[in-house]
Amino acid sequence: MRLSASELSRFGEDLGHQLHAPAVIGLSGELGTGKTTLVQAICRGLGAHARATSPTYALVHHYDADSVPVYHVDCYRLRQPDEARDLGFDDMLRERAIVLIEWPERAGTWAPPLDRHFRLSYDSDPGNRVLEE
Ligand SMILES: Nc1ncnc2c1ncn2[C@@H]1O[C@H](COP(=O)(O)OP(=O)(O)OP(=O)(O)O)[C@@H](O)[C@H]1O
Ligand SMILES: [Mg+2]
Repeated sequence: MRLSASELSRFGEDLGHQLHAPAVIGLSGELGTGKTTLVQAICRGLGAHARATSPTYALVHHYDADSVPVYHVDCYRLRQPDEARDLGFDDMLRERAIVLIEWPERAGTWAPPLDRHFRLSYDSDPGNRVLEE
């Protein structure tokens, strides 16, 4: 479907509201297509609050939602899939967390199985994005 920025945010908030842990969500798409916008909206829907201590350079961000841990993992800067081995996916799954993974394909087989996988792409209208699952 084609969504404006506010529609994409609304979609993410609704999705976050409906998610039940544990859940692993993949978000793929070229630079600037709205992956982080969607992650942030999902987090709002989950009622997740960023920990003030999260270093901005980290590949893994942890948030506390009402009763569920939420992890946002950005695999973009992995140089090879092996580097994903140490990101802690096993621990996240053991914790029965909500795990949001940008660029899961870059983690290769180290990425956990995705329950949902969203793909974002550009539209001919620069204010819209195409969202596919
Ligand atoms: N329909 C739309 N949905 C989402 N973002 C949009 C839309 N239209 C325009 N934008 C703009 O596109 C940009 C998307 O940025 P965002 O950081 O979410 O993308 P990203 O996929 O995470 O990029 P990167 O791969 O560089 O991290 C924002 O500046 C946003 O304002
Ligand atoms: Mg991003």
